Amino acid sequence: MRFSTNRPTRRHLLQGAAATALSAVPTGWAIAQARPLKVGLMLPYSGTFAKLGENITFAIEMLIAEKGGKLGGREIQLVKLDDESKPENAPQNTDRLVKRDQVDVLIGTVHSGVQMGIHKVVRESGTLTIIPNAGANAITRALCAPNVFRASFSNWQCPYGMGLVLGKRGVKKAAWVSWDYAAGTEAAEGFGDGLAKAGGELTKVLTLKFPDTNFQPLLAQLPELGVEAVGAFFAGGGAVQFVKEYKAAGIKMPLCGAFLTEGTLDAQGAAAEGIETALHYGDGLDNPKNNAFRKAFLDKAKREADVYAVQGYDSAQLLAVGLEAVKGKIEDEAGVYKAMRAAKIDSPRGPISISPSQEVVHNIYLRRAEGGLNKVVGIAAEALADPGTGCKL
Ligand code: PHB
Repeated sequence: MRFSTNRPTRRHLLQGAAATALSAVPTGWAIAQARPLKVGLMLPYSGTFAKLGENITFAIEMLIAEKGGKLGGREIQLVKLDDESKPENAPQNTDRLVKRDQVDVLIGTVHSGVQMGIHKVVRESGTLTIIPNAGANAITRALCAPNVFRASFSNWQCPYGMGLVLGKRGVKKAAWVSWDYAAGTEAAEGFGDGLAKAGGELTKVLTLKFPDTNFQPLLAQLPELGVEAVGAFFAGGGAVQFVKEYKAAGIKMPLCGAFLTEGTLDAQGAAAEGIETALHYGDGLDNPKNNAFRKAFLDKAKREADVYAVQGYDSAQLLAVGLEAVKGKIEDEAGVYKAMRAAKIDSPRGPISISPSQEVVHNIYLRRAEGGLNKVVGIAAEALADPGTGCKL
């Protein structure tokens, strides 16, 4: 019987030398490796959602910095574009990132209408896209696409939880007030579904154009509607003004919502006290990930973290999972998508996973605004997934 020894033969040494020489010459793959990955950030940096876009950006930068500036061994170069929350400019803005700047990945955006414009372009181009906020239901339902993942929520999810809570409390009739685009109208549907599931009913929806803040004509109608509660979708600057005007109008019915008090409590002040909202995050969530995240975010951004920051962070965490699985070789699309679909992420919001329609499955918390914090007071819906109706992947 012959035993192999570990002693190197001349042949081995020559092979070793050749391999060393070869490894000094960059191969096609090594050159591709060396190129930084371009990640386009298409977000609102102006207008009513500007702070949302900023917080998403801070948190993405934070995660990349925590990983030493590289994801899956590839350096990351961010290319930022202000989408101004203007749906009419969305296809052209997306084209700029995808065709002119040739981004490898697109992270965007906040506004559902803008998202629909992005979606049209990236479904064609196949660009890996991660949504850090916009909830447009269709994106992970009938129009779902293998290259599009959402790290935030669907417009249906959170208000569904809020409706469920009210219905269980015995609320029979409620109204909804919002801007008249997908984030508001689809949220109304979710709110109505939640209410209906627990024996209540959504009897009236009032809307105004995005991003208008001429709330008085709507507020004047509310007391006449015969409802016991009012739900609303406004966010950012619009939410600050709505909550203040609702309080000033002296309306008796309790006001509730999803994003209504998120990232806005300082500006809303006493007017927000006691408002209940259902959302996939809360200020006081006491888990080690959230505690570390909030501290790091405050250090970086000089402001408190909110759900938008969490969603930005998780968008980057999800991208990291995909790129780490293929060691940065983003050309291996199947490998990237497979890893992202199977991702189990430790989010500041709690553990999250990805649904078959590439949407986050998470708890919807019930929160109450108290002393400048959205305090978690219960769970409105546990491990809630969007139904993903009509999505075949
Ligand atoms: C949306 O347009 O989908 C949207 C915008 C702001 C939010 C939530 C949803 O806070």
